[in-house]
Amino acid sequence: MSARLRGTSLRHLVCCLCLLLIFPTLPAGADDRSWLPLAKDGLRDPGGPAVKVLQQPADALSPLAPDNAGNQVRWVRALRDGQINPRSSLRHPLNGEKYDKDVLLNLNGGMPVVRFPHSVHNEWLDCTNCHDHLFKKQRGATKISMFLILQGEQCGVCHGAVAFPLTECARCHSVKRSDALAELEREAAAKPSPTPPFEPAPTPSTRPSAGKTEGKAR
Ligand code: HEC
Ligand code: HEC
Ligand code: HEC
Repeated sequence: MSARLRGTSLRHLVCCLCLLLIFPTLPAGADDRSWLPLAKDGLRDPGGPAVKVLQQPADALSPLAPDNAGNQVRWVRALRDGQINPRSSLRHPLNGEKYDKDVLLNLNGGMPVVRFPHSVHNEWLDCTNCHDHLFKKQRGATKISMFLILQGEQCGVCHGAVAFPLTECARCHSVKRSDALAELEREAAAKPSPTPPFEPAPTPSTRPSAGKTEGKAR
C-alpha cells in the first residue's frame, strides 16, 4: 500500500516537475510583448472618436508571430504561416510579377555580406516601390551605403520606418563572406543559362574596383 502510494506520488512529482519545466519556457518570449493602447500612443487624440472605434494594437498583434524588435511582430513569418493575408489592392489585384532572386550586397565591407531577398519583398510590394527610383535593376549599378540607409534613404525608406528597424544588423548582414563568395562562384559557373533572368554583370575592365567575383565591389 505504502509502496504504491510512494510510486504514485513520485509519478506526480515527476509530472509536476515536467510541467514546471515546460510551462515557463513555452510562452515566456512571446508573452513579454506589450503595446501602448491607442489613447496613449502619442499619435491619436485620446479624446477623439477613433480611439473607441479602432482595434487596440495588443488585440490585433499579440496572436501574430513574435519578434523582439520594432513593432514586435515577425511579419515575414506571419505571412508565411498564413496568419495574415494582405490584399494587394483595394480594388483590383495587382498583376503580381514574380521575381525571386536574392541579391548579395556589400561584398567588400567589414560587416557580413547583405542578402537582399526579392522573394520576401515581392510578397508585399510592387517592383515600382523600389525600381528604379531607389535601386536600378542591375546588381552593383546603385551605390548603396549604410550612411544613406541610416538617413532614411535606400533600404531605410522602409526599414526603421515601416519594416524591421536598422538596429537588427544581422537580419540584413546575414551571410558569412566566404559563403557569399562561394555562392557567387556557383552562380557564375551555372551560367551561361539559356535565358538569363538579368543582365550579365559588367566586366572588371569597366569597373576597376571589381575583384574576380562579379558582385558589387567597393
Ligand atoms: C535593412 C538592411 C540593413 C540593416 C538592418 C543594416 N545594414 Fe548595414 N548595410 C546594408 C547595406 C545594403 C549596405 C551597403 C552594401 C553595399 O555596399 O553594397 C550596408 C553597409 C554597411 C556598412 C559599410 C560596409 C561595411 O561592411 O563596412 C557598415 C559598416 C554597416 N552596414 C554596418 C551596419 C550596422 C552596424 C548595422 C546595425 C546597427 C547595420 N549595418 C544594419 C544594409 C543593412
Ligand atoms: C524592396 C525593394 C525592391 C523591390 C520591391 C524589387 N527590387 Fe529588384 N532590386 C532591389 C535591389 C536592392 C537590387 C540590387 C541593386 C544593386 O545591386 O545595385 C535589385 C536588383 C534587381 C535586378 C538585378 C539583379 C542582378 O543580379 O543584376 C532585377 C532584374 C530586379 N531587381 C528585378 C525586380 C523585379 C522584376 C521586381 C518586381 C517583381 C523587383 N526587382 C522588386 C530592390 C527591389
Ligand atoms: C519599399 C520598402 C522596402 C525597402 C526599400 C526595403 N525593404 Fe526590406 N522589407 C520590407 C518589408 C515590408 C519587409 C517585411 C516586413 C518586415 O520584415 O519588417 C522587409 C523584409 C526584409 C527582410 C526579411 C526579414 C525577415 O524577417 O526575414 C530583409 C533581409 C530585408 N527586408 C532587407 C532589405 C535590404 C537589405 C534592403 C535594401 C537593399 C531593403 N530590405 C529595402 C520593405 C522594404
